[in-house]
Amino acid sequence: MRNNVWPCAALLLATILSSHLATAKSKHSTRPSHANPSTGASETGQPASSAPACQIAGTSVWKNELGSTMTITVNASGSVTGSYQTGAGCGIGQSQVLVGSCNGYGITFSVNFAGCNSTTAWAGTISSSPSIIRTLWYLAMGTPPAWNSIIAGSDCFVPASDYPQGLAQCSLAKPKQVR
Ligand code: BTN
Repeated sequence: MRNNVWPCAALLLATILSSHLATAKSKHSTRPSHANPSTGASETGQPASSAPACQIAGTSVWKNELGSTMTITVNASGSVTGSYQTGAGCGIGQSQVLVGSCNGYGITFSVNFAGCNSTTAWAGTISSSPSIIRTLWYLAMGTPPAWNSIIAGSDCFVPASDYPQGLAQCSLAKPKQVR
């Protein structure tokens, strides 16, 4: 009789331990579960939420440290459309077409600098308090490839209504843990 108790106790202990480990793993995970593109189900088996909620909604106007102005409209499914007027480089002040997408705190957009033989793509994160979009960008020349055909940099955008004083937040504000 006593010989039968130990395997049962060991099995019970192993079950309790693995359930504790699974709970701890899900509590400490910093990434949200992602949807399976073929089934639409998340890793947890729950249906993925249908629309990404961009932290910027509707139409807003932003300015960066180069004095560039970006006007964007974000729709319910995260598509971004708008215009871009650079404050530096070729075509200063000219309105250029901007397209992109946004998902939660992440945003990407690109501009075809018509008449300038170049395109630029930005990828960034949105901070809501303070209101900032931090980005990294690549500018690719439309000319045949040369050693300097692609240049990279960073831009920080603040609401046009906070410009220029809001730019101070770009160097002061630390990204904070939001999930
Ligand atoms: C060009 O000079 O070829 C076109 C204008 C490029 C302007 C760049 S895009 C990245 C950086 N951020 C801006 O707001 N302007 C410059």
